[in-house]
Amino acid sequence: MSFNLDNIIRENVKGLSPYSSARDEYVSDGSTMVFLDANENPFENGVNRYPDPQQRGLKAILAEQKGIKEENILLGNGSDEVLDLLFRAFCEPKQDNVITLPPTYGMYKVLSSINLVENREVLLTDDFQPNVSEIKKAIDEHTKLLFICSPNNPTGNSFSTNSIEELLNSFNGLVVIDEAYIDFSSEESWTSKLNDYPNLIITQTLSKAYGMAGIRLGICIASAEIIAVVNKIKPPYNVNQLTQEKATTRVLDINSVKNEVNEILAERAKLEEALTTVSFVEKIYPTNANFILAKVDDATLRYNQLLAKGVVVRNRTTQPLCENTLRFTVGSAVENKTLTEALKMI
Ligand SMILES: Cc1ncc(COP(=O)(O)O)c(C=O)c1O
Repeated sequence: MSFNLDNIIRENVKGLSPYSSARDEYVSDGSTMVFLDANENPFENGVNRYPDPQQRGLKAILAEQKGIKEENILLGNGSDEVLDLLFRAFCEPKQDNVITLPPTYGMYKVLSSINLVENREVLLTDDFQPNVSEIKKAIDEHTKLLFICSPNNPTGNSFSTNSIEELLNSFNGLVVIDEAYIDFSSEESWTSKLNDYPNLIITQTLSKAYGMAGIRLGICIASAEIIAVVNKIKPPYNVNQLTQEKATTRVLDINSVKNEVNEILAERAKLEEALTTVSFVEKIYPTNANFILAKVDDATLRYNQLLAKGVVVRNRTTQPLCENTLRFTVGSAVENKTLTEALKMI
């Protein structure tokens, strides 16, 4: 492999002088200062000042918890913003391409369209694993990003370590491993391999296990060099003050997060068991996430019947390899009971 970050960055980004905000130019050292630099309203209400553009407090805690350095982290307004920033930093519109592995998270395709970047789709194998030889064939000199969602949405499974390693070793572009569901997984995060692969980017989120979908906090983890490039193009105050505060409190309360994850995992096992007793459920796919994909006799019919009983699930029947599948998010014990009873009544 001959990965060279310089070959991956868009020309306009290489030459860009980023906007320098007031809070970039003067970083408070804690001493009492009079702030007349950012045209803020001086009357205190908790959010009258601009937030820290580099979210230093939150990053320090995340870095410690994840065993990485702050320089390896960029935070975004949800991981959706992080993913968009990757397109904008590395993909030349109408020239470069990315590779995605359907059935997978739908935003990669939407972001390719928005950014005018070709999306080369290489279907997963029948057991929902990356088709490494076909992926290698799809790669050319304009392929900048390869999106690997593991555990994968909507299938729920993790991808084989060997396949991912082979792709990391052979691809000269950036391998983006989307770990939105990693906290529910029996597999380890790829963050521990950060120093082994200069082309590795990991995205994580507080929207799933951390129970903070409403505050929008996404995490990008990569080499300091990659993070510096993405930092150049991010909006200065992309993570607002309230989000930084809420996220800090939650991340520090890691024990509560772990307890909730354990409860969700216990509920997942119960739900899997219950699904096996439903007459029209034909197959339950193995999952490492907080949802279960199941094949039923007629997904659209069953989806509508559940809706009529007040339960909303996700119909994935239009996704490749997912004909007649429904995706069930694991809810609370009460919610799962409602679902199970509705399924049995149908
Ligand atoms: C695989 C995957 N990545 C990213 C996201 C988006 O995460 P966020 O809420 O951080 O934007 C989702 C949300 O469903 C997802 O399933």
